[in-house]
Amino acid sequence: MSSETQIVLPKVIVVTPNPQHQEFFDVTLSPYFLLSVFRDVDQAMEDCERDPAQVMIVDQNGRRDRNNHLFIEHSNRLREKGPGLIATAGHNVAFDIRKDELEVPAQFLNWPLVAKTLLDAVSRVIGEKAEFVWRGLPEEVGKPLTLTVEEYQGISDAIANGEPIDCTAAAASCGPLVDAVGTGGHHAILKAVQNHHNYTYVHSMRVATLLTLFGHGLGMKGDDLLTLSTGGLIHDVGKLVTPEQILDKPGKLTEDEWPIMRDHVTRSTELLGQSTDVTKGALIIAGQHHEKIDGSGYPHGLKGSELNELARMSVIVDIFGALTDARSYKPPFPQEKAFGILESMQTQIDQNLLKVFRAIFEPGSELAHSTV
Ligand SMILES: [Fe+2]
Ligand SMILES: [Fe+2]
Repeated sequence: MSSETQIVLPKVIVVTPNPQHQEFFDVTLSPYFLLSVFRDVDQAMEDCERDPAQVMIVDQNGRRDRNNHLFIEHSNRLREKGPGLIATAGHNVAFDIRKDELEVPAQFLNWPLVAKTLLDAVSRVIGEKAEFVWRGLPEEVGKPLTLTVEEYQGISDAIANGEPIDCTAAAASCGPLVDAVGTGGHHAILKAVQNHHNYTYVHSMRVATLLTLFGHGLGMKGDDLLTLSTGGLIHDVGKLVTPEQILDKPGKLTEDEWPIMRDHVTRSTELLGQSTDVTKGALIIAGQHHEKIDGSGYPHGLKGSELNELARMSVIVDIFGALTDARSYKPPFPQEKAFGILESMQTQIDQNLLKVFRAIFEPGSELAHSTV
């Protein structure tokens, strides 16, 4: 496998002297993360200094305080280069580490643990660590990331509480992203966003950024660009109600699972339809980004001129974004390979629009850059 096509999984270090716990961590985390397991915190920290990890899980059971304090000293010294912490303790056992002693994101969990709780905690720590690093980036890069991730959390909360999505707030959070694309800040944004661990947010931000770039390539301006970026950010909100075992499945979906995954489009349309302030453009992007011009797409099998231009653009960007993304089950495809696949979809996607999108990445284009 060439380095270009290697799957790079986030690294998680586990420190546990308990063989049963080791087995549980291994079975639960190995499909999604690169695991390094140690019996001792000192060895783990040495490994982490050689090859940084995103998360360290310190299984306190059977350990003495001295090691926990050692972890705090090391992790605070490494700060943003160091891992976030997950500390585990026995049933009803109080933790010796306090959150306010730590300068890194942390989660505290008590045994008995189930897989979902552990996976959620690891994802949360990786996400918080990325957000921590974003706060230190130049404002034109950090602000679009920080605002949109907060907005995406707000959208998740609204859906969970049965409230309508505030699309005006979503558009406001995308303003700095549109500005950043205009000044070339999108390269750094596309790179930094990949470090987050909420894949639906990462994908949506990539689609928002790439759609805005696409709009620039077509000569669009002002509110049209804001519609594209907002539509990109909210196009997959239906995935926030898709079961996680399907959404984050580390492998191909079965025939029974595909319809549930595809249903996210209908759910997005329903959720956005409850908002009084959603724009027509954003609704089209959410509702039609899986339609194909030969009628082979979903959910409605729209054909030819039934597909709005915004939809044709978002189909291209959605596929390109998914192909060039790293997932636990697939490496990121190089741009050239992704464009090759899109060009082979002759009857399915608008090849004239694809040429405009591709030109953005050609050497010499003022928007071009290798990092996408
Ligand atoms: Fe989608
Ligand atoms: Fe999507």
